[in-house]
Amino acid sequence: MWRKLGLGALGLVGVVLVGGGAFVGYRLSVFPPTFPDEPQSDLRPSTDPEVIAKGRYLVDAVAHCTVCHTREEDFKARDSVEGILPSGGHEWVMGPMGTVRSANITSDPETGIGAMSDAELARILKHAVDADGDPKVMMVAVGPMADEDLVAVMSYIRSLPPVKNKVQPSELTTMGKVVMPLMAPAYLAPKPDWPLPPRVDDGEISVARGNYLANGPAFCFACHSQPVLSPRLGVVEPRFAGCITPDPDPLDPEMELCAPNLTPDPETGFLAAWSEDAFVSRFRGGRAVEHSPMPWENFGLMTENDLRSIFRYLQSLEPTRRVTGPPYRKAGWTPG
Ligand code: HEC
Ligand code: HEC
Repeated sequence: MWRKLGLGALGLVGVVLVGGGAFVGYRLSVFPPTFPDEPQSDLRPSTDPEVIAKGRYLVDAVAHCTVCHTREEDFKARDSVEGILPSGGHEWVMGPMGTVRSANITSDPETGIGAMSDAELARILKHAVDADGDPKVMMVAVGPMADEDLVAVMSYIRSLPPVKNKVQPSELTTMGKVVMPLMAPAYLAPKPDWPLPPRVDDGEISVARGNYLANGPAFCFACHSQPVLSPRLGVVEPRFAGCITPDPDPLDPEMELCAPNLTPDPETGFLAAWSEDAFVSRFRGGRAVEHSPMPWENFGLMTENDLRSIFRYLQSLEPTRRVTGPPYRKAGWTPG
């Protein structure tokens, strides 16, 4: 999602804007935007081992917290990311706008969140703002989930052993502070109130479970639809019809990425000819596109029943005709 920012275009606008000194002074005086009126959350962690185990599955697999909360080298060096400790330090370098870094969320009191109150942790997870109402930059990219699952996530996070790893705070440059709130305010805003299907517990394979996962904690819809970045994060409906504007590959300017149309349209749906077994094996097979933002390592840890549920849910959608093309291709690709 973060990559949807269109760094090149933003940089250009930034150069123009930074020309106006008074304007820049004003923009800096209102940075960061704060949201003190965002609700508090009264959810609190539990020490019940069953709840902690559910939280571990969410953090490791479905809600893919660890893809962002570990250093990329450590994450990619492992054969399996199961149980990897989210000690922070993943970096998103945004050129002239600055660098965002993920926090150490293990229980270390000095470098992790051991000293953070439960109330603040709950508010960050539910609304992506801290105790002061300041936005926690990328936490807006965490899928919505039922309170029961949020409690499980908090409980697992609280149960983690401390890892000492001091992460430098994120820093936006003057240009970043001016440009980002104007062009992509969604990244500096609280989480939107996404509509959430009823929670269905894991267990049986069902369309309802797939619906909850794909529109909730797995957040599949957010990438597999066209995002809207202003003023709060949204998507162009219908969901799951794939990208309209592709994202530049952040590490290779010659290439671009487009999250494919996952609706069952016979001509343009990416999964139209897939069997359920092929879908499961694809998720067990892991990453094919090295720079893809899709957290394949985490999703590969999902249970077979959950993957089958997601497939059945996607197959149950209204088909939407939208040509999304090859997911990874030369920049500037056009159909035909
Ligand atoms: C898309 C990447 C991404 C995902 C996914 C993500 N986070 Fe974060 N998270 C971040 C970044 C980046 C920060 C630091 C934000 C800042 O500096 O404003 C952060 C901050 C936090 C904080 C605040 C830490 C502090 O010391 O202030 C907590 C707690 C947290 N994340 C927990 C989680 C949990 C639990 C999940 C999974 C449910 C998760 N995050 C998923 C990127 C992510
Ligand atoms: C952070 C963004 C993101 C999220 C979240 C995400 N995807 Fe993707 N997905 C992509 C992108 C980008 C591609 C194209 C590059 C690739 O294949 O990795 C892709 C590719 C795919 C493909 C095609 C793979 C192939 O074989 O070519 C499938 C199927 C898919 N996603 C399903 C899902 C499902 C199901 C979920 C939720 C469980 C999901 N995605 C969540 C971004 C995302």
